[in-house]
Amino acid sequence: MAQTLLAPSVLAADFANLQRDVTMVNKSQADWFHIDIMDGVFVPNISFGMPVLKAIGTHAEKPLDVHLMIVDPDRYIKTFADLGAAVLTVHYEACTHLHRSLQAIKQHGMKAGVALNPHTPVELLQDVLGDLDLVCLMSVNPGFGGQKFIEQTYDKVRRLANMREQSQSDFLIEIDGGVTSDNAAALKEAGADVLVAGSFVFRSQDPTQTIASLKDLTR
Ligand code: DX5
Ligand code: ZN
Repeated sequence: MAQTLLAPSVLAADFANLQRDVTMVNKSQADWFHIDIMDGVFVPNISFGMPVLKAIGTHAEKPLDVHLMIVDPDRYIKTFADLGAAVLTVHYEACTHLHRSLQAIKQHGMKAGVALNPHTPVELLQDVLGDLDLVCLMSVNPGFGGQKFIEQTYDKVRRLANMREQSQSDFLIEIDGGVTSDNAAALKEAGADVLVAGSFVFRSQDPTQTIASLKDLTR
């Protein structure tokens, strides 16, 4: 099985030292930057927007994995492409015309992802499996870092991995929220390909070493 990708979530970085933290990720074994965009409507929190993403992009040397927790994301697909997003993930719950949104993301040269809230069953994706590059399973309720991992996620990963096999599609399965050294290996075992980790990385004594240890656990 391929190595699991690790995407530190910049939401947990020190915004007063953003360049330092971006450089740390560049030099670490991390694979992607996970960027959480929140609008205060889809989720009860506002994170940061385009100027901050632009600043991150100026220094980042690894792909930007942008997770939109916003209503009506179609309005900003071109903007995020221009800002250098490699993967653009929209929420299933925020897209009335998900199929159209996914095509628009790909037409703008990005990988298309869809995120599911903890209560949203993976089976709802059955008819777009072939259109997806990534499925992000939220393992906490979106809006905040530092929350407790929801154990039901393991079952969702296994069901989704099974659907992927049955349909012979090849999207990546990403897990977002509450990822730590306690669950990383089990998530990989269940079928996860990308692990997002925010507070576990940035709140640790030695983030570079924490990233290395998460990579080790998922080899
Ligand atoms: C939550 C965000 C996550 C968050 C993860 O709404 O989508 O990406 O930054 O943070 P931790 O790893 O602290 O749960
Ligand atoms: Zn996220």
